[in-house]
Amino acid sequence: MDKLVINGGKPLYGSIDISGAKNAAVAIVPATIMSSKGVCVIDNIPDIEDVRCLERILTSLGCKVNKVGNTITIDSTVINGTDAITHDMQNMRASYYLIGALLGRFGKAKVVLPGGCPIGDRPIDQHIKGFEALGAVVKIEGDTVIVTADKLIGTSVYFDVVSVGATINVMLAATLAEGTTILENSAKEPHVVDVANFLNSMGANIKGAGTDVIRIVGVIELTGCDYSVIPDQIEAGTFMLAAAGCGGEVIVNNVIPKHLESITAKLEEMGAQVLQEGESVTVKSNGRLKAVNIKTLPYPGFPTDAQQPMSAILVIAKGKSVINESIYESRMMHVDELKKMGAKIEVEGRIATIEGVEKLTGAKVHATDLRAGAALIIAGLIAEGVTEIKDIEHIDRGYLNIEEKFRILGADIKRVTE
Ligand code: EPZ
Repeated sequence: MDKLVINGGKPLYGSIDISGAKNAAVAIVPATIMSSKGVCVIDNIPDIEDVRCLERILTSLGCKVNKVGNTITIDSTVINGTDAITHDMQNMRASYYLIGALLGRFGKAKVVLPGGCPIGDRPIDQHIKGFEALGAVVKIEGDTVIVTADKLIGTSVYFDVVSVGATINVMLAATLAEGTTILENSAKEPHVVDVANFLNSMGANIKGAGTDVIRIVGVIELTGCDYSVIPDQIEAGTFMLAAAGCGGEVIVNNVIPKHLESITAKLEEMGAQVLQEGESVTVKSNGRLKAVNIKTLPYPGFPTDAQQPMSAILVIAKGKSVINESIYESRMMHVDELKKMGAKIEVEGRIATIEGVEKLTGAKVHATDLRAGAALIIAGLIAEGVTEIKDIEHIDRGYLNIEEKFRILGADIKRVTE
């Protein structure tokens, strides 16, 4: 098993390029299944484990998948099945997008229920609500979802919970339904907009993505297209937070600054400087930060995926911080690991109360989930001494070459195979 070994306490200087957005790519790759004519050529695809997992799943369905560098070519005109039941399906959360894509194009799907980070219950009731509203019959047999529909008919769906996955999944199925579908109380994340733009490039008719109300006029078929995935908002935020916590000056290239506004605002509140120029943001910090309070919210609020990395710098911020994780009921498993490094954090349900400490000390820790792993890397870079992080396969699901990117910024970090 691999581990990361970090010798911390150094400021970060330099510039790095952000990869394509994981949470857009893991929806766009399954969405290519909906093309019945022509191939999809998608650029800026991050070569991360979650995407490789989806490539294997599409190949198991008979699709022709070819990746060269960050460009993937998918021919789904030759797909020969609608049963996505390989073990890969449980290695990630986003495998559930196969339901919406297969249901939309073929009127049926048999899909193993998704896995994903252990950060809460993670139901799919809102996905099922949308599919049933469109006229599908949904059955859950053990760990498998079976959906069928003679015909999908456009309708109105009001999501009881703002859900990225349900918004995207029902949007997928509705693109080929007969008639118009209105999705209300929709998620507005940048990756929801990116998937809608991708589907429109395939010939869909979607308006309003990025607002609470998305209008989808069903079309007869979708065809292949050329597309490029947006930059990863959370990867960019992770490096911005690391720069603020370690001190130094870091230029984060290939970003959309607007997607980072909530993180930028909080870093400026903490005393870091953030300059936005075109497709780059520069973070300058002396490493001495002020405590702030965080409440995670759906976009454009502070992203839940940045909550754990943010907690890694709040633990050395001067004063008391309170984190309210309003999206997930148990996204605090990184706290015990940060405590091993000297952090003072108390957790009560979804609330974490942090007393800033002068310094962190390197320790042996383990990544419990993807963004917890990112938080531990940041804490290790800040801490004095050596930090070893185990179970880094969680980190590899969502970050491409994270240690190489931090090494470019002057960090003493290496991957060691035990
Ligand atoms: C997506 O997960 C992301 N994953 C998550 O990122 C991210 O944390 C989350 O959106 C919120 O932004 C991918 O895009 C692959 P949700 P998703 O449906 O779609 C509840 C990462 O670190 N809910 O928006 O699963 C749910 O329990 C990962 O990159 C229902 O109640 O999240 C949660 O409390 C972690 N019923 C809230 O909604 C449903 O049917 C938000 O979940 C669906 C969700």
